Amino acid sequence: MSRAVALITGGTSGLGLATAQRLREDGMRLVLLGRSRERGEEAVALLGGEAVFVPGDVVVEGDVERAVEAAVDQGALRTVVNCAGRAHAARVVSRSGPHSLKDFMEVIEANLLGTFNVVRLAADAMAANEPVSGERGVIVNTASIAAFDGQTGQAAYAASKAGVAGMTLPLARDLGPLLIRVVTVAPGLFDTPAADVLPADKKAELAGLVPHPRRWGGAEEFAELVLHILRNPMINGETIRLDGGLRLPAR
Ligand SMILES: NC(=O)c1ccc[n+]([C@@H]2O[C@H](COP(=O)([O-])OP(=O)(O)OC[C@H]3O[C@@H](n4cnc5c(N)ncnc54)[C@H](O)[C@@H]3O)[C@@H](O)[C@H]2O)c1
Repeated sequence: MSRAVALITGGTSGLGLATAQRLREDGMRLVLLGRSRERGEEAVALLGGEAVFVPGDVVVEGDVERAVEAAVDQGALRTVVNCAGRAHAARVVSRSGPHSLKDFMEVIEANLLGTFNVVRLAADAMAANEPVSGERGVIVNTASIAAFDGQTGQAAYAASKAGVAGMTLPLARDLGPLLIRVVTVAPGLFDTPAADVLPADKKAELAGLVPHPRRWGGAEEFAELVLHILRNPMINGETIRLDGGLRLPAR
């Protein structure tokens, strides 16, 4: 039987990189899709050379096709973890005028369209796998708790992540007959490079909103949930909040 391969988008930093480390420990081959060659090389080195980096953008059809081909070259593409995504904050009307339509489209494009682009191309490749323990593959997407309690200034980001959560069930329904599961994780606060843009006092203030544990999550805690999702065939068509009980206030 060919070895299981995992394709991880945004796999060169933050939640994606931690997931790559955890899945490597679990014996999977890895293909990382990311935009920065430099970060890609660093990630492959960190993974002891046991990963293939494919430079590219999740929104670009040809880039994702190359990443899927690279995965299939390594073995059977059984896992996809979509971590590529970007944050954005702007009020719908501010002193500088209305929210930029271009910015709104770009956020939807990166977070929602990019995720769907990867899902459709990867699932098509997974459909050719021999079933193992009744499954051909598992796709894990990353939304955000902003999909449900988006804050002031998060219209674009929350809409993009609500789209990821919203398509989870229909994707699982479409792909169920092919023995492929689709699950989404909606993280709360996780300490990754994306969070580094916030000043320390703001980070501490946000941590104080988490009922328990009163802190930012570690990327390895996200990775641990991804691994559980892969191992538990009853989890399907669902968006799982991973947030220490946090419900975001308006601001
Ligand atoms: N860290 C958090 O607190 C948190 C909370 C909720 C949701 N998330 C989501 O988790 C995911 C991972 O974020 P992270 O915290 O690890 O941040 P990160 O910035 O470390 O990782 C995101 C990665 O996605 C890549 N990326 C962005 N747009 C891309 C594109 N179009 N094509 C290919 N790669 C692209 C970035 O270059 C980066 O490497 C994101 O989708 C983010 O929205 C993070």
